[in-house]
Amino acid sequence: MANRRLAPAAEQPAAFAFSSENAEWAKGQIEKYPEGRQASAVIPLLWKAQEQNGGWLPQKAIEAVADELGMPHIRVLEVATFYTMFALEPVGKFWIQLCGTVPCDSCGARELKDYLHHRLGAPGHVSADGNFSWLEVECLGACCNAPMAQINQDYYEDLTPDLLGKLMDDLAAGRPVKVGSQVGRTSSEPLGGADTLTDATLFDGSRVGAWRKRFEEKEAEEGSEQGKAEAASSERRAAAEPKPARPDAGRAVETPATDAPAQRAAAGETPVKPDDKANAADGTGSTAQPAAPTAPAPETIAKAEAAGAEAGTQSDLPRNEPPPQPAASGASPDAAVTKPAGPKAPAKASATKAATPRSSAPKKGN
Ligand code: FES
Repeated sequence: MANRRLAPAAEQPAAFAFSSENAEWAKGQIEKYPEGRQASAVIPLLWKAQEQNGGWLPQKAIEAVADELGMPHIRVLEVATFYTMFALEPVGKFWIQLCGTVPCDSCGARELKDYLHHRLGAPGHVSADGNFSWLEVECLGACCNAPMAQINQDYYEDLTPDLLGKLMDDLAAGRPVKVGSQVGRTSSEPLGGADTLTDATLFDGSRVGAWRKRFEEKEAEEGSEQGKAEAASSERRAAAEPKPARPDAGRAVETPATDAPAQRAAAGETPVKPDDKANAADGTGSTAQPAAPTAPAPETIAKAEAAGAEAGTQSDLPRNEPPPQPAASGASPDAAVTKPAGPKAPAKASATKAATPRSSAPKKGN
């Protein structure tokens, strides 16, 4: 983990102020945010301050940004010390941020770290020639091309100690270097080149519409004779029996309502017709059935008998009728009124008369 402390006082400049050009730029950044939200511009302003100061952020620059945004100094210091993209100590001409997070570590970042230790010494120090300084940072989001490092603004990927060493030599000597993968892969395609979607016809347009053309050719072959005969027959029929278009063709057909309550009310009649009112008052036409007298439930009979036995009397519940059977859901009316041979055989009701298929459904209480 990177050490996130401000540079020693001896290295801190006495003051910091944005150049007029950068002050103008900062003003534009701040104006992007609504009134009261100017603190949102803290990162771009810190970034610009770092750029102006040669690649690192002195304490005075942090305070100047805080004053510009009307923020407490400590709030801006918190931001600057959180993000490793802000260097808090002087850096070399080429600032190497080496990713040490797991994917890069698994792919050889440790060897790169050893190499930098060996070549430049401890992180956070500028090399004697002023060219390099380095720092181990967390994932920089290029894990698929691990291991990698950011040098100033650019990413260099698929590094080995040898490749990193050559890269540093070229940078120090001012020779052109290749940004991105150092082993020749394009973007993040597999090592050794693409191994899927390699058929050139996928990309040259020759496949577009090929299947449709094939079907059209087949249909034309099979149906040419039959299609011609059908077309000729339709033409003959149309000529012999011309059909005039209906007058309402293409227009919505509107049929006015003739007996609506609103119409009757508008005509000064009662909204509900007197006949309908009379029918509603007359209950004979109703489909609702009057409730049938209910027989005592078997449990009621059993309780009454037990109480009578204890008291030495007989209950006055009817004893010449079998206990009523609970109605089976879905049973036919015939099955529901079937009488068994005697009072002790209620469970055989279904055997005394053939029930409808639905009456064979399980009955509650049996
Ligand atoms: S782990 Fe190194 S870039 Fe993501």
